[in-house]
Amino acid sequence: MNKDYLWWRDGITYQIYPRSYADSNNDGIGDLPGIISKLDYIQDLGVDAIWLSPIFPSPDVDFGYDVADYTAIDPKFGTMADFDRLLAEAHHRDIHIILDLVLNHTSDQHPWFIQSQKSIDNPYHDWYLWANPKPHGDPPNNWQAIFGGSAWEYAPHLDQYYYHMFYKEQPDLNWRNPEVRQAMLDVFSYWLDKGVDGFRLDVFNMYFKDKALRDNPPKLGLRGFDRQKHIYDNSQSEMFPLLQEIRDILDQYPQSYTVGETFLADPAQTAAYCGEDKLHAAFNFDFADNRWHPKRFLDSATSWYQALPEDAWPNNFLSNHDCPRAATRYCFGEDDRRAKIAIAMLLTLKGTPFLYYGEEIGLRDIPIRRKADIMDPIGKTFWPLYKGRDGCRAPMQWRDEVNAGFSQGEPWLPVHENFPQRNVDQQASDPESLLNFVKKIIRIRRAEPALQRGDFTPLIQDPRRLLAFQRTYQDDQLIVILNFSSFNPEFQIPLGKWESLIEPGKPIPSTLSLKPYEVEILKKQHEPYPIEKDKR
Ligand code: NOJ
Repeated sequence: MNKDYLWWRDGITYQIYPRSYADSNNDGIGDLPGIISKLDYIQDLGVDAIWLSPIFPSPDVDFGYDVADYTAIDPKFGTMADFDRLLAEAHHRDIHIILDLVLNHTSDQHPWFIQSQKSIDNPYHDWYLWANPKPHGDPPNNWQAIFGGSAWEYAPHLDQYYYHMFYKEQPDLNWRNPEVRQAMLDVFSYWLDKGVDGFRLDVFNMYFKDKALRDNPPKLGLRGFDRQKHIYDNSQSEMFPLLQEIRDILDQYPQSYTVGETFLADPAQTAAYCGEDKLHAAFNFDFADNRWHPKRFLDSATSWYQALPEDAWPNNFLSNHDCPRAATRYCFGEDDRRAKIAIAMLLTLKGTPFLYYGEEIGLRDIPIRRKADIMDPIGKTFWPLYKGRDGCRAPMQWRDEVNAGFSQGEPWLPVHENFPQRNVDQQASDPESLLNFVKKIIRIRRAEPALQRGDFTPLIQDPRRLLAFQRTYQDDQLIVILNFSSFNPEFQIPLGKWESLIEPGKPIPSTLSLKPYEVEILKKQHEPYPIEKDKR
């Protein structure tokens, strides 16, 4: 490993949705011992960090994103001893652990909220956003919940409303209360002291809302939520001093890291939260939203790079637990050629790649056929227009065995019916598989600092079919060419002597004719000194 290697900048992060990765006790729900049993696999894949979706006690209205205790482990995932073992075993393999902190809201079962709703005089009352009704009993303002309906829930015994941006079982905390602020900052310290390496901050730009509770102005849209300009219910400037405070805590722990999930923010607003006195990074949702077109990805990546301040580093993702998987969006049937291009792009563009569990074997979303089968409540609310997020959260496919080797018990979500053919074991033994392709690109990336932290220059030739760019670092120059099409576009190689890192030793003509969906990575060979004329 080169000496300047910085895991969160140069490495790769692998997101695990713990319910769905590996189930050690056969209750149908994945758990920490299950993840521990797969650490060798994860290490062999070549990633540097695991982002664990929430593992804290939760009534699971929003599957872990409704937290009832920030400093404990949910028994369905294991014990604190299991977590300590996971941390130690991961560190032993040079794998870092990133926890998912959901600090905008708690579960309504959190002891703080249980106290808060007892009476207006309760010391915890002000820990949440309570407000009096308007005359005639109406909610305090027009704010809507993204998961449907008014964001205000009436508590008759208090004659007050409390605010929730998500489900009503997820009341938003009052971050202006100094005790809340301190309790939350203590959560960071608690896990950092345990040795955790970083955090993903759920909807952090929601922490503060307009103090005067002004109505959002109207706009055109389908659902109530979309018919408002969300200027007062998120992204208030009070976030900036708080980010500095969070960063000050993190900076006491060398090489620790925070990546934020913004909500309702465009790339420019997202980028403004990143930098040396703010978050290390934030997710660029714009990139994942692109349709299959190389120029779209290029434009979205370059505008992301331009938006970020000098002291911030980009990251890129295409899949997570909230949206259909990239392979589902881009591939035709079981054909993985586009999945190869998509992952190669993630692994070679400038920016830390985030992979979502199963992306390395091209997991497809499970089809949601009946409303009655849906687990994610928003899928039931908006059925059949929107079927929720179950599709991308199905069990990992390990083997051609019962339940794809995920669990001997009934899995909490069905396993995709393609598992007999699409699973880790099968792909490990097939040299042409997506898994082996991903491992190969990761190996190349790990050996090349230019792919990790090099500068980025687009090389525009046939932009409807090709995404090509140069990455340079110190004396190294690399060219990546990704053929997004089923055609054979040509690419003029810049002057110099180049070697293929995909197929070392293969002759590189001055005009390369690409095979359908081919990936090529070329490295410039250093000329012997004194520089000779180009001999190609
Ligand atoms: C964003 C998370 O990614 C999503 O899964 C969750 O439902 C909401 N935040 C609320 O926490």
